Amino acid sequence: MNILEIIADKRDKKELSKEQINFFIEGYTNGDITDYQAAALVMAIYLNGMTDEEITNLTIAMAYSGEVLDLSKFGENVVDKHSTGGIGDKITLILMPIIAALGVPVAKMSGRGLGYTGGTIDKLESIPGYNTQICVDEFMENVEKIGISLMGQTLNLAPADKKIYALRDSINCVGNIPLIASSIMSKKIAAGANKIVLEVTVGNGAFMKNIEDAKKLSQTMINIGKLAGKETVCILTNMDEPLGYSIGNTLEVIEAAEALQGDMEEDVKQVVLELGSYMIKLAGFGDDIEANKEKMIECLDSGMAYIKFLELIENQGGDVSYINDVSKFENAKYIYQVLADESGYVKGIEAEKLGEISCKLGAGRIKKEDVIDNQVGLIINKKIGDSVEEGDVLGIIHANDEEKLHCAINEFKDCFKISKEHVERPQVILGIMK
Ligand code: URA
Repeated sequence: MNILEIIADKRDKKELSKEQINFFIEGYTNGDITDYQAAALVMAIYLNGMTDEEITNLTIAMAYSGEVLDLSKFGENVVDKHSTGGIGDKITLILMPIIAALGVPVAKMSGRGLGYTGGTIDKLESIPGYNTQICVDEFMENVEKIGISLMGQTLNLAPADKKIYALRDSINCVGNIPLIASSIMSKKIAAGANKIVLEVTVGNGAFMKNIEDAKKLSQTMINIGKLAGKETVCILTNMDEPLGYSIGNTLEVIEAAEALQGDMEEDVKQVVLELGSYMIKLAGFGDDIEANKEKMIECLDSGMAYIKFLELIENQGGDVSYINDVSKFENAKYIYQVLADESGYVKGIEAEKLGEISCKLGAGRIKKEDVIDNQVGLIINKKIGDSVEEGDVLGIIHANDEEKLHCAINEFKDCFKISKEHVERPQVILGIMK
């Protein structure tokens, strides 16, 4: 077998065998297959697609390209969650302490942001001292001790996905159903949980721009889950506007801390409750979805979820005084209010562009090796359906560079589409598939 034949087969729209897929994943992970050969094959997959069997074989090969964790000591049903990515998506930071406080074991490895979508690990690292790079033994001990640990993916967790994801990003091949489904599910399989809840984001700030594609992606991941023996539920959520009110690492940590103390934006709350209630169900802690939501609300109201968040941070070396008094986080140098030029109702917000603006300010990476600026980002004051008067604050830019701030101002304003007609608030939860 050789890689040139495999590339030619996919180029000519043939189905790849399990052996061909294994040969590619093994060879690319160990360096025998070059980046340009892998890029050719990935582009052929992007253009010509994959059958369900090929997608499953690709997923399993990537999952087993490195270590596969065994979380069975935490119970028969260990549940994990993942998001297909979005703008201002701080759900993990809020959701995981809530369900951990309810007794559901949380052993979660998260990723960094790439491009305009953010990553939980970058957000956690904006808390002074928080160590995301602990070893697997410490990770397991944390879960045993306090019921929760959030760490960065180890280098050896699905290393094939890591290489292929970076390659896809560099050749503009990220937004593709077989590639996204296999990427996410390979990491989830390697991370050891046997039940999975996926937040599949839909809209202009997500990889899936419309509901049909989001359903296809969800069904593909559910099918992979079935074949791999991992029960999978997909919650389709709206990403036509950023989630919550902040974009940027420290700003999102502050929003999460406020949310866990009871001040939670409505769209964030709906996503947290929907995902959490299914996680609780799959973990075997309660079958009634509405009752699970009630339990989560009680847990928030009692302060237990916030206490669990503090415990998580402290246990991983973070300085909780910043969370208890968020004014301790140093502000960016420039804090600029962007005002509305006209009155009306917000009809649309270009979420992806806001993600790009935040990224250019320094909150995300344009290249893998870029260093993140935790202080910068955006505050969104007006969401779809809100009324706006001329001169109202649409949002606030937090910048550390004057030139970048000036570039951002008009771009930010252009992201808001104002209509004279009344506009309904968008639905947040767009569907559930299992
Ligand atoms: N998230 C992932 O982990 N992989 C993708 O391909 C897209 C989003």
